[in-house]
Amino acid sequence: MEQTLAIVKPDGVARGLMGEVLRRIEKENIKIVAVKMIRLDRFKAEGFYYVHRQRPFFSQLVGYMASGPVLLLVLEGLNVIERWRRMMGSTDPSKAEPGTIRADFGSSIESNVVHGSDSRDSAIYEINYFFTGTEITR
Ligand code: RTP
Ligand code: MG
Repeated sequence: MEQTLAIVKPDGVARGLMGEVLRRIEKENIKIVAVKMIRLDRFKAEGFYYVHRQRPFFSQLVGYMASGPVLLLVLEGLNVIERWRRMMGSTDPSKAEPGTIRADFGSSIESNVVHGSDSRDSAIYEINYFFTGTEITR
């Protein structure tokens, strides 16, 4: 059993895609064990994307993630890290597989609607970055 952190990013929330994303997750029978809506400040966004701090797009990425509220979700299930990333599609919506969330709704390589942890280690870091133990249902 695995957990992963999913985020509906500011563009997804602003465009009214929270319901659509939740519907797709539930349709796949992936269990949602925690939910929280918050607005990141730049500091909180920098810490979240710390691994990307040397990348040329870091400052823009932080500004985008702090540009509006986000919906944070903890998902649980067998192989859920990979399953959720497959549902999201590739980072660049123009290259994402048909039927994925990013292919269907993403507007650019940056404004790509959703986030998903990319490994067990990053999932643990990312879930603990936003949620305390008692906020995750069991
Ligand atoms: P994420 O972490 O958000 O789930 O996305 P990912 O694994 O598919 O992509 P990653 O390489 O981790 O990049 C994180 C986010 O940074 C923005 N980005 N902008 N301007 C650019 O070239 C660029 N490249 C990436 C995207 O919002 C990407 O999801
Ligand atoms: Mg990533």
